[in-house]
This record gives sequence, C-alpha cells and structure tokens, in this order.
Amino acid sequence: LQQSVLPVHWERATAEAHGDKGISHVLDFGPGESVGIGAITARNKEGTGVQVILAGALQGDRGLGDKSTLFDANPKSVRFAPNWERDFGPKLVRLADGSLMVDTRFTRLLGKPPVMVAGMTPTTANEQIVAAFTKAGFHGELAGGGQHTEAYFRDRVAKIMAEIPAGEGITTNLLFLNAYLWGFQYPLVEVMRQEGKPMDGVTIAAGVPTLETANEVLASLRKSGIQHVSFKPGNIASIKQVIEIAKANPESQILLQWTGGRGGGHHSYEDMHEPILQTYAAMRRLPNLTLVAGSGFGDAKDALPYMTGEWSREFGMPAMPFDAVLVASRVMASQEALTSPEAKALIAQAPGIPNEKAWEGSYEGPVGGVRTVVSELGEPIHKLDTRGIALWAKYDAKYFNKPPAEAEAAILADKATIIAELNRDYQKVYFGKKADGRVADLEDMTYMEVARRMVELMHVPGGEGGRWIDVTFRDRVYDFLVRTEERFHRSGDSTAFVQSPKQLETDPVAFLQEFFARYPKAQERLIASEDVDYFLNLAKRPGKPVNFIPVIDKDLKIWFKKDSLWQSEDLEAVPGKDVQRVAILQGPVAVRYT
Ligand SMILES: Cc1cc2nc3c(=O)[nH]c(=O)nc-3n(C[C@H](O)[C@H](O)[C@H](O)COP(=O)(O)O)c2cc1C
Repeated sequence: LQQSVLPVHWERATAEAHGDKGISHVLDFGPGESVGIGAITARNKEGTGVQVILAGALQGDRGLGDKSTLFDANPKSVRFAPNWERDFGPKLVRLADGSLMVDTRFTRLLGKPPVMVAGMTPTTANEQIVAAFTKAGFHGELAGGGQHTEAYFRDRVAKIMAEIPAGEGITTNLLFLNAYLWGFQYPLVEVMRQEGKPMDGVTIAAGVPTLETANEVLASLRKSGIQHVSFKPGNIASIKQVIEIAKANPESQILLQWTGGRGGGHHSYEDMHEPILQTYAAMRRLPNLTLVAGSGFGDAKDALPYMTGEWSREFGMPAMPFDAVLVASRVMASQEALTSPEAKALIAQAPGIPNEKAWEGSYEGPVGGVRTVVSELGEPIHKLDTRGIALWAKYDAKYFNKPPAEAEAAILADKATIIAELNRDYQKVYFGKKADGRVADLEDMTYMEVARRMVELMHVPGGEGGRWIDVTFRDRVYDFLVRTEERFHRSGDSTAFVQSPKQLETDPVAFLQEFFARYPKAQERLIASEDVDYFLNLAKRPGKPVNFIPVIDKDLKIWFKKDSLWQSEDLEAVPGKDVQRVAILQGPVAVRYT
C-alpha cells in the first residue's frame, strides 16, 4: 500500500496531456475503474481533446473507453474526445464568390458575421437602426419593448421591410416578463410569419420560461416557420433550464445569449465567467445550441478572446470559444441610433470601469458613471448616473423597496418634497400646476388649467404647429375637452364645438384658446371631483403611458417607472430639454469604449 503524504496537484501533473500538445489519449491502469483517477482525469480534461481509456477495466463508463477499446485493432473504432478549441473555435472559409468569412456555428446558422446587435428598448425599437445593421450585413434584433400596440408593431415591420433587401429576415426581441407585451406580440409574430413577412427569429428575453411553457412556445414557433429562438439566461440555474429546453427540442435551433451582471440594461447578479466555466461542457454536448457572449464589449481586441476561447485559460480551463459576441451599450452612441445627441455626449463622458469586477459596486452608488436601479419590471438595471436616476435610486431605497403600507405612509408624508424633487430633477414632472406656475393638486385646478397643462406636457411646440408625443396623448386631451364641453354647453346652444381629435392635430394651443373663449366659465371653475376621477382614468387608459405624475399616492412607483426609456431619444419632450432628467441605459464596462 502506498500513500502520498504530500499534496499531488493532479491538474498540474497532467497538464502536458492536452490535444494541443499532440496527446490524444490517456490510459489509466489503476484499479479504481470508473470511480478511479481515470474518471477524475477525464473530467479535468474535458474539452482538451484527450480521451481517457480505463485500460484495466472490463467495462468503461460515461464515455470512457475500457480494455476492449484498447485491444480493438480496427482504426475506425478509435474514439477521440472533443477539443473545444478545435471543434468550436472560429475558422476561415472562402465563399463561392471568393470572399473570406469567419466560420462558426453562429455564422452557419444565420449566414452573418459573428457579431450581433442585441435587442434594446428603445435603441433598436425603430426601423432606422434595424435597417442600418441589416443592410450592413449583420444580425440584430428589433426590440419588442418599444412596440406598444399591434398596429404600431405592424407599422415598424412594414417600414423595416421597405428598407431591407428581399431575403433578409427580422428577429424580434420579446419581453417574456411583460405579460401585456408578450400576450399580443408572441402570437402576432407567428401571424405575421404566416402572412409571409420575414419573421425569422424570436428572442425570449427578460426571463426564461419553464420547460413546459418553452416546449409549447417552441413547438408553436416551429410550426409557424420561425427558424431560431434565443434565450437570455441570467444565472446558472437558468442556463441549465435553457440546456433542458434545447435537449427537449432537438428540432429547434436555440441560441443562448449569455450576458452577466456587468451588462447594460437589465442585468443579473452574476459574474460574467463563473457560470460559463461550470456549464460550458454541458452546453457543448448539444448540437442545436449556439453560444453568444455578451456584456461589456466595445472593441475587437477585448471581444476576440471570447471568440477564440482564450478567456477561460486564465481560470485554468481549456479554451471555451463562443460562436458569436453581441454588442449593445456601445451601439447606443452610434450615428444610426436615435439616442439624442446630448445623451450620446453623456455616454461618451462616462468613464466606465477598468476593472470589470467593480461593477458590483453599482448597487450602492455610481461606478464609472453607471448605477443599478430597480426597473419597471422589478429587476436590476444599469443606467447612467443622471440627476433623474440618482433620484430613482433614492426613491427605490426610501419608498419603492418598502412594504406597500409603509411605502404609502412615507410617500404621503413627503408629498411636498417629492413634488419639488420631481419638478426639479425628473423626466416626469408633477401634473398639478396653476396658471401662475404654482404647484397645485388636480382639485385646485380649473378646467382650462388642466387642459392647458395636458397640452404643455404632451405636445411639443415648434415647427408647423408642433407635434404630439403620441397620438393617444392627443386623444386624451380631446376626450377631456369633450367632457368639459358637456359640463359647460348650454342646452339651447348649437352643435358641439369639439367634433374630432383631428381638430387638435395642428396647433392645439390655438384650439384651446378658441375653445375656452366660448366657455368662459370653464376658465374659472375648479374641476368637479368626478372629473378628477375622469382625468385619472384618462391617464391610466391603455395607449402610451402618460409622461407625468398626476397624483402622489401609493401608486407613485408605477407612475414614476412606467415607460421611462423613450425620453433619451426625444429630449424635446423633456422639461427644459434637460438630459440630466432622463434614463439612459448603459453597461458600466461597455461604456468605457464610447
Ligand atoms: C439601451 C439598452 C436597452 C436594452 N433593452 C433590452 C431589451 O429590450 N431586451 C433585452 O433582452 N435586453 C435589453 N438590453 C440588454 C442588451 O440586450 C444586452 O443584453 C446587454 O446590454 C449587453 O451588455 P452591454 O450593454 O454591456 O453590451 C438593453 C441594453 C441597453 C444598453
């Protein structure tokens, strides 16, 4: 019997056994058989191209060879172990037209280079940028987060189709956690596909569905002709869930977009590397799973190790290549992005963090100019540290993360301060305001003051009569005027002055002037309590969520957070055109490249 009395660093002792060094097989002559050192070595050597054979065992186990393997004289029977670098690393291929292209599982699946633009609300929610990256020959995603209604979504798809060459597909990024959007968008993508629109792929973002739900969704997407489906797991448990989904659906082409806690926008609590080190082998056993690395990328030099797989060597592991990388934050400042120039300038000014591990500090305060706050969906999200976002972080801690009753009491007690802070620092200001500029509650406003304030906040002056931020904003003003007219119309009067929302289309300020000249009492009468309720219902009505806070109550969190991203693309619609009021999504690592 022999016993080692000093530690044996087995991984180091066997380091030379590596496919790269010309070693393809290791023979274990020990007595341990399938639970001996051979099995441990096989696990350590996974992905290096080294096949372990249990030379003393009559029966191998878990992919290990046995004595019969050793003595099999047929050369065809020799089994080689996977070598991740060789099997999955990028190669070059020459296409029929003579051009050279990088060859990975991703490029073969999509016929595009292995760099993609991730789905971003609002940045990739418009036709301009989707058409731009498609025409440039790249794969990317149309963000469903910006498509509020079926008509709007269809209009976007039609506009993209008009821009991109025939034969190019559209992949949509659908937010699984958002029940309203998912509820109409997932069926709609299938319907559009059946109508012949080039809906090629779907990304199921913001949450990985259960295996049962995923099986149903994938079967349905396959049936309607969707060619590939991406998932965006945020931790090891959800990576394993995607592995199970891919296993259960071998006919579906699945992409796994891995973005760790350092990514822009919604992010997980996880390190970028650890979850992959633990799951890479299992992922690579699946022929229908394509791996995309994301988060923190912004140039070729730093992204390349993820393509070649070199990144994992510093963790003492064999090379673990991804099939593609995705970029997001970096694209927000591109020329084609509709991000406002002032927001792009803020992105350029934010230093980012040189040491990527420092991102975890973003929960406590800004790091590299980026903070974590809790999003509308209740998930951590990275945003530039503007005045508005510093206020958001403060309210998360002070009110929104508290139990509802405690939050409500605190909100009501601080009402005056909250109103002052919203009006000074946030993109959505408090609605209540008298004609002379004093803050007031709705009950203390006249019909005319309410109507004018609606127009002031929801309509942008300038040009020929200005523009409505959204048509549903115009329609709400129209409905409020109809209600007002009902209140002040005398029975003997001729027909109603307010006939159609179109009357408000150009120059609503002038229209209100005329309207209230006809109804002088509405200039002075405070709005009735039923009409306060009517106004609040108008504000809550489906359509684009309103861009102001109509009341300080227990629902402050909803009013504050809902639909809070578009302002970074439309500073004209923000009080004082003040970029410091708005929410600008960015990753703390990626931002250093801009
Ligand atoms: C402006 C912005 C908006 C985003 N919106 C979405 C979205 O709608 N859906 C989604 O799946 N991910 C969204 N993300 C996350 C990105 O798709 C991507 O996973 C992440 O930003 C990658 O990290 P990086 O920004 O460091 O490159 C968003 C990110 C940014 C920066």
